[in-house]
Amino acid sequence: MSDLHKYDAIAIDGPAASGKSTAARRLAKELGLIMVNSGEMYRTVALAVVQNEVDPSESVAVVNLLEEIDLHCAVEKGHSVVILEGTHPGEALRSDAVNAVVSQVAAVPEVRNLLVAAQRELLNLGDLVMEGRDIGSVVFPDTPYKIYIEASEEVRNQRRRAEGQVDEVSSRDRQDAERKNSPLVVAEGAQVIDSSELSIEEVVEAALALLRDRGWFERKGESATP
Ligand code: CDP
Repeated sequence: MSDLHKYDAIAIDGPAASGKSTAARRLAKELGLIMVNSGEMYRTVALAVVQNEVDPSESVAVVNLLEEIDLHCAVEKGHSVVILEGTHPGEALRSDAVNAVVSQVAAVPEVRNLLVAAQRELLNLGDLVMEGRDIGSVVFPDTPYKIYIEASEEVRNQRRRAEGQVDEVSSRDRQDAERKNSPLVVAEGAQVIDSSELSIEEVVEAALALLRDRGWFERKGESATP
């Protein structure tokens, strides 16, 4: 990657509610990197599917919709944002209706091709932390900075309930892990962190330790103890 890009990506993958978003946000803040939530991009397409009453199991209809909608990915104030029909969808991205269809929508190859290209483009803007399902395996397979955060199903369901969301975490995980295109996997070379019994600080510390081991700070010309 370093041959093709000026900038580097830290890939954080894992199942639903494993704590990867929080860890990625903290890490990005601590290191001053752009934070990219790739799930929001899939959620935005899923929201368009819901709003336009498209059947998510009809991949041809989803692809047709993809051609009609106006969708942009950008970075504002150090965070990725998705703009659908000129506005930020905001909280609607985490609605129950979106939770229910997003994994089906994310399994459509054309949806993935479009969004993976947009995700790679963002690396032209600066060093970044990107979290998702296939960041270390598909989007940036050459990055040495790969982390896979997991947690027990019980802990993950508890976390989602605490956020007040109706979210079939296990059903989404099954769909994400079983799909043909870019399934959720531990990418080659990724360090696995089980967050079930860890505080967020401990997860971030484990991620920083990996970056130290893999030479991130030397590469950035910084001291290894941020
Ligand atoms: O935050 P949470 O774990 O609930 O999920 P998310 O990151 O917002 O992603 C929502 C859904 O988008 C996932 O269940 C996947 O189906 C899909 N997704 C994906 O396929 N690939 C990614 N890189 C990110 C998300």
